[in-house]
Amino acid sequence: MHFSVLTLFPEMILHTMNTSIIGRAVERKLLSIEAVNIRDFAFNKHQKVDDYTYGGGAGMLMQAEPVYLAWASVAGERKPRTIYLTPQGKRFDQKMAKELALEEDLVFLCGHYEGIDERVLEEIVTDQVSIGDYVLTGGELAAMVMMDCIARMVPGVLSNSESGETESFSDGLLEYPQYSRPEVWHDKSVPPVLLSGHHANVAAWRREQSILRTLKWRPDLLRTAGLTNKEWALIREWKKKMKESEEGTDSSGGEEMV
Ligand code: ADE
Repeated sequence: MHFSVLTLFPEMILHTMNTSIIGRAVERKLLSIEAVNIRDFAFNKHQKVDDYTYGGGAGMLMQAEPVYLAWASVAGERKPRTIYLTPQGKRFDQKMAKELALEEDLVFLCGHYEGIDERVLEEIVTDQVSIGDYVLTGGELAAMVMMDCIARMVPGVLSNSESGETESFSDGLLEYPQYSRPEVWHDKSVPPVLLSGHHANVAAWRREQSILRTLKWRPDLLRTAGLTNKEWALIREWKKKMKESEEGTDSSGGEEMV
């Protein structure tokens, strides 16, 4: 898979993306990442890439021509999928990452200042994407979040032990809690079921924990997680217990919930 990033800060991309798991994948040639400096395509005396907005208003806008030429230098005849990072875009999620991971080539366009001249966006951008409802100083961090998430789905990028099979969102639920040695740390013991060696019980406990965490932290995910009737009944029971313990009428203290 090949990523091209159009940016005013190529060193920010290369420095970050050439470390850790993604860096290892680049070394092994499973991925390649190219950062193109948009300023190299500003053919004026001071290599200026921004200007005032027509119609007035605060702030400067990135101009169409250097952005277009930077894009043309990587796009060639192929017209690759070109993603503009913007808080106005479609919200990035695991489903979008999965879909984008099927592409051979992706181009990320990172804006700065108040944005980019609309005319070049119309010509080159296929997808406008936001990584969340907050405003960053530029698109670089957002592009790197997307690349990290997409790259780990490329076959071979994660080793078997790092593989994402059972992680959060792969089954529409949050991940269950995990424990490693020692068995007791700061007076906290590992849940006994995990030491039992009983695989079916371990799997059932993990599934329950995933559902419970999702109920507590991301209840919006439950509806689409494909839960069984039995699991919905369990949720109703937990909710009742949570309400009781909030109201102080719970005799068990919610012990059997976890
Ligand atoms: N650029 C600035 N803020 C952003 C966001 N939240 N997502 C994507 N790109 C951005």
